[in-house]
Amino acid sequence: MVKNKKKQTKRTMECKENSIPTGIVFLWGLLVLLLLALQLTSASVALPGCLERCGDVEIPYPFGIGRNCSMEGFTLNCTFSKGTHKPFLNHIEFLSISLSLGLARVAGYVSSQCYNATASNVTYNDWEMNLWASPYRFSSTLNKFTTIGCMTLAYLIESNTPNSMANSSYWSACVSMCRRRDDLKNGSCTGIGCCQTAIPKGMVHYRVWFAENFTSTNTYNLSRCNYAALVEERAFNFSTSYITTDELYGGTLPLVINWAVRNKTCWEARRNMTSYACVSENSTCLDSADGPGYLCNCSEGYQGNPYLPHGCRDIDECANKDGSPCSGDCHNTQGGYWCSCPRGTHGDPYKGTCYPKLPPAAKLVIGICISLLIILIIMLCIHVILERRKLIKVKEENFQQHGGWLLLEEIRNRQGLAFKMFTEKELEQATNKFHKNNIIGHGSYGTVYKGILKDNHVVAIKRAKIINERQKKEFGKEMLILSQVNHRNIVKLLGCCLEVEVPMLVYEYISNGNLFQLIHGNGRRIYKSLETRLKIALESAEALAYLHSSASPPIIHGDVKSANILLDDHLMAKVSDFGASMLAPRDETQFVTLVQGTCGYLDPEYLQTCLLIDKSDVYSFGVVLLELLTGKKALRFEGTEREMSLSSSFLSAMKEGRFSELLDDQIKYNEDVERINEIAVLAKACLNVKGEDRPSMKEVAEELDRLKKMKQHTWEQHNHAEIESLLDNLSSYREEENTGFYSLEKKAMLSIEPGR
Ligand SMILES: *[C@@H]1O[C@H](CO)[C@@H](O)[C@H](O)[C@H]1NC(C)=O
Repeated sequence: MVKNKKKQTKRTMECKENSIPTGIVFLWGLLVLLLLALQLTSASVALPGCLERCGDVEIPYPFGIGRNCSMEGFTLNCTFSKGTHKPFLNHIEFLSISLSLGLARVAGYVSSQCYNATASNVTYNDWEMNLWASPYRFSSTLNKFTTIGCMTLAYLIESNTPNSMANSSYWSACVSMCRRRDDLKNGSCTGIGCCQTAIPKGMVHYRVWFAENFTSTNTYNLSRCNYAALVEERAFNFSTSYITTDELYGGTLPLVINWAVRNKTCWEARRNMTSYACVSENSTCLDSADGPGYLCNCSEGYQGNPYLPHGCRDIDECANKDGSPCSGDCHNTQGGYWCSCPRGTHGDPYKGTCYPKLPPAAKLVIGICISLLIILIIMLCIHVILERRKLIKVKEENFQQHGGWLLLEEIRNRQGLAFKMFTEKELEQATNKFHKNNIIGHGSYGTVYKGILKDNHVVAIKRAKIINERQKKEFGKEMLILSQVNHRNIVKLLGCCLEVEVPMLVYEYISNGNLFQLIHGNGRRIYKSLETRLKIALESAEALAYLHSSASPPIIHGDVKSANILLDDHLMAKVSDFGASMLAPRDETQFVTLVQGTCGYLDPEYLQTCLLIDKSDVYSFGVVLLELLTGKKALRFEGTEREMSLSSSFLSAMKEGRFSELLDDQIKYNEDVERINEIAVLAKACLNVKGEDRPSMKEVAEELDRLKKMKQHTWEQHNHAEIESLLDNLSSYREEENTGFYSLEKKAMLSIEPGR
């Protein structure tokens, strides 16, 4: 396929020593001296005594001017032409050399195919460039094979051996066409007037060959020449003037060649340190990208010439022209640097955050504030701890004040006593935190709650009102005595809670209300036989007699009234509410008592003397007896003044012999008048104004017992159980006082008539 060219100029590049003028030698000498002097201050890139520059071009070792100044294959000539010095390798002019990238930019000749002035002849100016057996390769990444022309087909041919197209290993071509001048565009190399194509990696030779028959005289008016060259793509900028003028003819375009220390890899080269090119400390070796060979680089933080001893010098990052890498103070080190914040500031000196430090006064203030805060927190903690301790102490004190220790000691002595100390929490749980729905009554001393203990035991819990100091002291003692009281007709005290300021008492729960409710009802009346009334009276009297005589020292109830006589399921009387109770007086202090009790039941003598004695209870019991007989309340807020008090109206009625008028309708017509009269006499004795004239509770109980038994003798046939069942039946009839109750009662009377 090789065709003869009609006229072909050919230049090959072969190394050829130039003779150097003597004048230049002298200049060199001067330069060397100058550079030696400079070397003291700045790092040299060339071997000592060698030129560092040729004209405008820096010549770093391994390149050098002359054999002694360069590594083999890197020897350049510094040639003087057209008024300046230029470095040449044979005929190739070096435009620049990069050490770190292993690149050199050279002037590449442009091949051309031109018509002569008459278009009758074609002149070829083909170039061939070979880098055989040299450390250089054409850069495949930075160069492009480029053709310029309006009807141009040019081949790029690589041959491995000189002068043999047949042995060529690579062929490539590029075609550029153009018809009108207007089609051409500056900067656009896309086939119209200009064509570019890539080349393979590691090329060591290229020659251009124009296709002869392709071109035509048709484009002669537009362009006289076609051009082709391997050019640095980035440096090439297509200009329409390349077509329209012949400015490219015989010219050059930049071309990039890679260089490396050839034929050994880094690993191989390091095995023989005498020929290892990276001689500088702090240098690294890099394998070449296009064939065997390596490059040297300075390590990070160093710059300079790694091919020279001590060539890699520390970079003074702090002296960077573009500004210090630190926002604070910069400190250079070998191969690096570090930053610090200037005096009086703190922060991150690498990220531009150095803040001025706080003045000592501000620091002091902050320190004091933090210390104060810590002290405050500590004090708060101590306060909380002390408060808690105080609370425990208060509970302890309460416990002690309420006679808790005395009680505990006593209880310890009497093992087996069924008395329990309850905790505040236990009782809170039992009463749903003393919820008002659990209130079952208000005693003279406090509020009574119904409570259900954890073991499902139903209890009544009495929470005392605030009591005074003296009462507090007595409380424990009184409770101790009450806890000893064990009588079937007295409400049993199960336990207490002393750890609170106001002590609480836990009683057995009595389910059936009290005597007041039974007698007076809530607008309803329940039939109660004289027998039942007598039974309740006797049981209450026995309980009081027990308190007065059997207990030691004697206990005075102090607030005997029908509301304080509770009734259980079998209508058994249970005396309760010992809130006003008092041990029998022993010293002066006992006299100075606030008069307590309930109006209508109060002993008139007690009102005068303020001395609570057992006979006071007898008086009150007398009123209860009257209530049982008459069914009237102890105090009524209607009628004359005399009629208001049951006791005074009773006493005057007795005097006038019309006592029977007062009797309860349910027993008025009872034929057992004698017994009723005897009860009335007993009541009268109890209501004696002078306490000493009243019978003792024991005597009252004995009398009631006698009266009760008397009935059993006279009414032998009368079945007690029958009356009880009758009572139960009747109680289910919730009749009003004046509507049909009598008829029912009459029937009841009639029904028991045959039994008599
Ligand atoms: C292209 O650039 C050249 C030189 O810069 C100029 O002479 C020519 O007119 C430009 N061509 C177009 C089409 O702009």
